[in-house]
Amino acid sequence: MISLHDLTKIFPGGVRALDGIDLTVADGEFFALLGPSGCGKTTLLRTIAGLETPTSGKISINDTDVTALPPGNRDLAMVFQDYAIFPHMDVTTNIAYPLRIKKVPRAQRTAKAAEVAARLSLTELLHRRPAELSGGQQQRVALARAIACHPAAFLFDEPLSNLDARLRLEARTFLKRLQRELAVTTVFVTHDQAEALALADRIAVMSHGRMVQVGTPTEIFHRPATTFVASFIGSTPMNLLPARLAGAALHVAGATLPAPAGLTPADHLTYGVRPEYMDLSLTERPDAFPGVISVLENLGTHTLVTLETPGTLIQLVVPEGDEPPIGTPAWAVPRRALIYRDQTLHTP
Ligand SMILES: Nc1ncnc2c1ncn2[C@@H]1O[C@H](COP(=O)(O)OP(=O)(O)OP(=O)(O)O)[C@@H](O)[C@H]1O
Ligand SMILES: [Mg+2]
Repeated sequence: MISLHDLTKIFPGGVRALDGIDLTVADGEFFALLGPSGCGKTTLLRTIAGLETPTSGKISINDTDVTALPPGNRDLAMVFQDYAIFPHMDVTTNIAYPLRIKKVPRAQRTAKAAEVAARLSLTELLHRRPAELSGGQQQRVALARAIACHPAAFLFDEPLSNLDARLRLEARTFLKRLQRELAVTTVFVTHDQAEALALADRIAVMSHGRMVQVGTPTEIFHRPATTFVASFIGSTPMNLLPARLAGAALHVAGATLPAPAGLTPADHLTYGVRPEYMDLSLTERPDAFPGVISVLENLGTHTLVTLETPGTLIQLVVPEGDEPPIGTPAWAVPRRALIYRDQTLHTP
């Protein structure tokens, strides 16, 4: 278990990289930190690891206060963005290194290194040195080295960022299975929302050193707490449209839609609908956004359609082959939407 209490990090020069973080990561939990570049993900991980000293606040690992402990005494295995592996050692020796520190006999640690290497498709490379490896291969060596020992927690900072798309998917599935098997508490940094959704038991979405929302992938995907989270999660971004309450109806981009309870005409409202949760109609209807098909993007099994409406663009996803040609007048019918008041999710 990792507990963070009111953790703040202000760098010399004044950047507030962490701003009062409170969080408990449960035993065996796979926890993802997600957020745009510069939001404080690496700083948070480095602070947990002891590589940065917090300006204030407290860190506990398995109920021991480690705030003042050096990195080596925290029993953590890390893979960082720059995956430093030892240039003068071959792959086997690199992977087995933490076991050597723990004084595991040579035969045993070589066997363990070979086993972990096989699971990361590194068997052919065991005798090479880092300079003879590609970036993605080096990253897998760093990952293998972390999992060769059995620490209190794994800290991963974008450990898959240098892998090509296919290898990244394979490594992701492998990591998830391995983490389940070992049941080691894991904090995983990524700026890839799909990776966070796929891997994590829970996700924290960060912005400017704070956690904007913490929840399960389902909660974060279906009920993003703010428009920031809403725009960040989803393979195609949610449509966020200005809305206005008039009587019992919402006026949104040329459509008249039923309004939820608890709103007033003075509210600053945003109507959020995912591209996947809209249908396309070729006949006019009042509860749909009118426009003209302006761009078609091939997504393989589906097509991303951009509808140009007066004042805004709306995107929706239709099954491949169902897209009308560019220039066709069309109506986007929302099936499932969220309302934000002052950028915050409105719960009637
Ligand atoms: N050593 C440092 N000194 C001063 N400012 C720093 C230092 N390290 C990071 N920062 C600043 O702290 C903020 C958070 O940086 P951090 O590296 O944690 O972001 P990140 O979320 O990991 O971003 P990325 O996705 O680009 O890796 C940024 O504004 C960054 O410029
Ligand atoms: Mg980073």
